[in-house]
Amino acid sequence: MGEADRIFNPLPDEEDRALSKSLRPLTLDEYIGQARVKENLRVFIEAAKARGEPIDHILLCGPPGLGKTTLAMIIAREMGVNIKITSGPAIDRAGDMAAILTALEKGDILFIDEIHRLHPHVEEVLYPAMEDYCIDVVVGQGPGAKTLRVKLSPFTLIGATTRMGMLTSPLRSRFGVILRLEFYTPEELALIVKRSAAILGVEIDDGGAYEVAKRSRGTPRIANRLLKRVRDFAQVKGEGVITKEIADMALKMMEIDEAGFDSVDRKLLLAIIEHFNGGPVGIETLAVAVGEEKRTLEEVYEPYLIQEGYIKKTPRGRVATEKAYRFFGKTKLTQKSLFREES
Ligand SMILES: Nc1ncnc2c1ncn2[C@@H]1O[C@H](COP(=O)(O)OP(=O)(O)OP(=O)(O)O)[C@@H](O)[C@H]1O
Ligand SMILES: [Mg+2]
Repeated sequence: MGEADRIFNPLPDEEDRALSKSLRPLTLDEYIGQARVKENLRVFIEAAKARGEPIDHILLCGPPGLGKTTLAMIIAREMGVNIKITSGPAIDRAGDMAAILTALEKGDILFIDEIHRLHPHVEEVLYPAMEDYCIDVVVGQGPGAKTLRVKLSPFTLIGATTRMGMLTSPLRSRFGVILRLEFYTPEELALIVKRSAAILGVEIDDGGAYEVAKRSRGTPRIANRLLKRVRDFAQVKGEGVITKEIADMALKMMEIDEAGFDSVDRKLLLAIIEHFNGGPVGIETLAVAVGEEKRTLEEVYEPYLIQEGYIKKTPRGRVATEKAYRFFGKTKLTQKSLFREES
């Protein structure tokens, strides 16, 4: 991966993990943006606390790097309970899931990241666990085998997924609350950048924060990563203060364009425009054309391009919009415009 690719990958790397410990907001008040989600959560948390019950099972959906893990940890903190963190693909056997569930204490939160990637036999253990706080354990083998119901302590499952549509309906229907995280606005990201800068002890002005925010693909994880790079630049080339000029210079040097696109975004859009005449083109074909996995395109790249209006999803495949053409200084040759040029 080139430098720009690394910066733009919304998936966490080692440096992010170290960084995120210090930059992670710890309370709902500190958590910037996602107003609707926060408002809902405040009500659920308060109601659950008043009843002295665990909060309902919660499903958090949204593209990577928007703050799902952070939010799960905040919920645990606000509820005053323990949180155990695991992920769908990490649990291989039904027995492992049973072991995790039986170890939970009253009110604990179990956070399962990438919950759409649970193995089916592991997922089945969750159904009675979520519904009735119990699991069925098979004891013995052959004709003498018996099923035992084991009671669990009442707990809360928080699932996170980048692909709501890939969740099975029995699992989805067992969540009491489904919350969708949205991409952040540049204004919200600028607040996040300023907060992070204060924690890192870097001076940044409003113009500098907004410049970083604008190019962060609506994603706090990317904003924090860009901030770190710009900080290095400000130290070496500037007076240590991140201004609009310094940020702009640094981002240009890193080949980050004004839309915040990385090389995969550009390759994806250009492929649709140049090789497939603007589309529609199927996602499998596109994946081959840009040399990325279909899943990566769907989970990491497409959501932002769709939300920003560069790509449209149609039943016959992906289509590049006028906005995408304009971004590359191209014009779309439609039947109509061809006709006009001739007459
Ligand atoms: N609302 C927010 N306010 C301030 N900082 C935030 C916010 N949301 C996320 N962040 C920052 O962005 C980083 C990424 O967030 P987090 O790891 O929670 O994302 P995620 O949605 O769980 O991503 P993934 O889907 O890849 O696991 C965090 O370290 C945190 O510093
Ligand atoms: Mg996460």
